[in-house]
Amino acid sequence: MAGHKHIDEVTGVETTGHVWDNDLRELNKPLPRWWLYVFYACCVWAFGYWMVYPAWPTLSGYTQGYLGYSQRAQVMSDVKEAKAAQDTYRQAIANAAITDVKGKEDLFQFALAGGAAAFGDNCSGCHGRGAQGAVGYPNLNDDDWIWGGSLEQIEKSIAYGIRNGHEQAHATPMPRFGLDGILEPAVISDVANYVRSISGTEQVDTAAAERGKATFAEQCAACHGEDAKGNEEMGAPNLSDAIWLYGSSQEAVTQSIVTGRGGAMPAWSTRLDPVTVKMLALYVHSLGGGK
Ligand code: HEC
Ligand code: HEC
Repeated sequence: MAGHKHIDEVTGVETTGHVWDNDLRELNKPLPRWWLYVFYACCVWAFGYWMVYPAWPTLSGYTQGYLGYSQRAQVMSDVKEAKAAQDTYRQAIANAAITDVKGKEDLFQFALAGGAAAFGDNCSGCHGRGAQGAVGYPNLNDDDWIWGGSLEQIEKSIAYGIRNGHEQAHATPMPRFGLDGILEPAVISDVANYVRSISGTEQVDTAAAERGKATFAEQCAACHGEDAKGNEEMGAPNLSDAIWLYGSSQEAVTQSIVTGRGGAMPAWSTRLDPVTVKMLALYVHSLGGGK
């Protein structure tokens, strides 16, 4: 066959010279050049890659590659860099008075973001995702504050908490007028009506409210104030507005008076660092109700 070219008559293509059954021939159709070159280039690339980067599993691990690259190490170094960048901000927040942080735009934005993240992790379980609160857990979006709505007051509420045994925590409880026999049930019912009447609640027994007025002045005004507008020193809520921590119905108000109330919150300074507490205070203050 050598030196003897055979051209297929039908297609006009050269054949390989192989013949079967006397007349069956194979067309000589090699792979296109470009395809072959790409294939060789891929092989070279692959060998190079295996040498440089981690590639093959071995009995005790894997081939490391000349570059010594590792995604884990990369992430660690990225995290370290991010932390270093954060440390600058955190240090600045630690050194600044909380009221000054508000004046420095980039610091303030950093604190709000940090506060929002810490709020989601630590606070939303009780106060709600949007800090909207629930019965017994105050709404932190409004400008109605039990313990005060200035930056410093909010920071203190968060740092030391409420009725948790911490020596700097807010502590005054609401007395148990019914359970401890301080007031008769009928008197409690009257004063409950009175409290509801001054906050403009509907369906109040006005005669009972009138009778309850004197009891309020004697028993309640010391904490809630003569005008019932509350007292932040005592944590005694404003009873003359339409915002209720435990409910505005005759039953709920009666129960507040019978059993007393004493919502508790952990002292966050024992769990979170001071910078996080500061960022939380700035965040809560910024929710809309800060004073
Ligand atoms: C275990 C439930 C619980 C968790 C968690 C919690 N709180 Fe509270 N928080 C309360 C209760 C209950 C009160 C109201 C106490 C009272 O009746 O005086 C309160 C009150 C407050 C107040 C005072 C509100 C006012 O009107 O003066 C602030 C501010 C506050 N919480 C912020 C936070 C922040 C920030 C976090 C997260 C770091 C947090 N709370 C986590 C239960 C909780
Ligand atoms: C020693 C102080 C003190 C006295 C006296 C006191 N309270 Fe209170 N009262 C509080 C405190 C503190 C709270 C809030 C408790 C909490 O946040 O869990 C409260 C809460 C309440 C609430 C619940 C308010 C809400 O938003 O749901 C009502 C109602 C109430 N008091 C009525 C009265 C009446 C009526 C009297 C008088 C018979 C009275 N209080 C006397 C301290 C006092």
